[in-house]
Amino acid sequence: MIKDIISNNYPISFKNKGYDFLKDIIKKNNYSKLFIHVDENTNKYCLNHFLKHFDILKIIKIESISGEENKNIKSCLKLWKLISDKGGDRRSLLINLGGGVITDMGGFVASTFKRGIDYVNIPTTLLSMVDASVGSKTGIDFGVLKNQIGTFYDPKVVIIDPDYLDTLNEKEKLSGYAEVFKHSLICNKHVYNQLIGLNKILIDYKIIHDSITIKNNLVLKDKFEKKERKALNFGHTLGHAIESFLLDSKKKLTHGEAIAIGMILATFLSHKLCNFSRKNLELIKTHLKGLFGNIHFESKEIEKIIELLKHDKKNSHGKVNFILLKEIGEPVYDVEISKDLIIESFDYYLS
Ligand SMILES: NC(=O)c1ccc[n+]([C@@H]2O[C@H](COP(=O)([O-])OP(=O)(O)OC[C@H]3O[C@@H](n4cnc5c(N)ncnc54)[C@H](O)[C@@H]3O)[C@@H](O)[C@H]2O)c1
Repeated sequence: MIKDIISNNYPISFKNKGYDFLKDIIKKNNYSKLFIHVDENTNKYCLNHFLKHFDILKIIKIESISGEENKNIKSCLKLWKLISDKGGDRRSLLINLGGGVITDMGGFVASTFKRGIDYVNIPTTLLSMVDASVGSKTGIDFGVLKNQIGTFYDPKVVIIDPDYLDTLNEKEKLSGYAEVFKHSLICNKHVYNQLIGLNKILIDYKIIHDSITIKNNLVLKDKFEKKERKALNFGHTLGHAIESFLLDSKKKLTHGEAIAIGMILATFLSHKLCNFSRKNLELIKTHLKGLFGNIHFESKEIEKIIELLKHDKKNSHGKVNFILLKEIGEPVYDVEISKDLIIESFDYYLS
């Protein structure tokens, strides 16, 4: 049996152990109402699997529309209203069954409804298993700007059940792999060495467990992102700006696709400013481009992406701060980067 991972105030439990834990807390807390939050895909592919474990309970389903473009205040208004209309009160429990959009938005709705109700995350994508559902950050987008509105709010439990991945398409699995790879880059040379030579993605219980452990260890050290947790933003400064820029376009990318580009750019900047080795830079570019392909950017698009950086949440005092690497597993925090160097990093990506 896979061991639980213990976070700040809650366990991250695998499969039946997780479902048993949830049954226990439902019993202990005598919740007035149980809500399950899905989107149309997790309703179709994941809900029955979940209900197999909970067939005797009366659970009220509430549904959001899938997609990053719906991770916004309008969807929250709908969720607050549904919960309220269906008799939700302070003693209700919200179970989020879905990818990062559902867990981020559901967590935010739970943290604000009646000043906070209990919630549980059951991630159904690789990305939400290894990243979004762990670490207590909830949030929604503000216009095209990612995760600008949100809270830190602990779930009661996170249940990891890799069986949900059976119905996830390859593009979404690849998206999650970007975060698995990032975790290895910032923290674990051993896992990195395992991944870098592969020309396909590796997803098994062990790699999911390792990846969650890496993220959770950073969260345990620094829940509110004063220092160590910032390492998780490696590749995300430019990655988020690229994701935002392309959100409403034909070239719309998954979160992982955008982060993969962001990681190549950040690794180039690490090479330029922190002596990160050229050899590893080339290996990372080859690995990520081999898996994620190549996206073309025109100069004027790069200008607009750089413009979006000013909204990055890591900025302070008007400066854009990057996370870079000295070596695999050795992050450098809060590095200021000039516009010219960012343009040079795009040149390197495109070459
Ligand atoms: N809170 C955090 O710390 C944190 C960290 C990383 C990412 N995020 C957020 O996570 C989000 C991305 O999450 P994501 O990649 O899971 O995207 P997502 O939630 O949009 O899910 C991707 C797609 O897969 C579908 N889906 C989900 N589970 C499925 C299953 N088992 N079978 C078939 N289809 C399924 C969804 O309906 C959706 O269409 C972004 O909004 C990002 O900002 C948050």
